[in-house]
Amino acid sequence: DLQWHDVGEPDDFPDGAVWPVVAAGMPIAVFRAGEALHALHDLCTHGAAKLSDGYVENGCVECPLHQGLFDIATGQPCGGPVTQAVRSFPIRVVTRDGAGRVE
Ligand code: FES
Repeated sequence: DLQWHDVGEPDDFPDGAVWPVVAAGMPIAVFRAGEALHALHDLCTHGAAKLSDGYVENGCVECPLHQGLFDIATGQPCGGPVTQAVRSFPIRVVTRDGAGRVE
């Protein structure tokens, strides 16, 4: 079953950047691209590297270790050496107590 986890405020996630959070004990990389927010498992499928340490460009994040590329919206590989998708998670903004929260 899907459970939502509070990971911060909308302003915590600046446009064009990636930020590490933890939800249910799992490391998650949160990306903002304009109005869209995306969440991927914060571990490259190719090795022991955090995608939140990577570089975001053209809708993909570049792994800091071997420059593998993943689509930030889907987690699908978009450039070698990665061949396996990284898990993606739904993300939403809710208004609670008069403030926007990201889950
Ligand atoms: Fe990410 Fe190798 S560990 S591309």
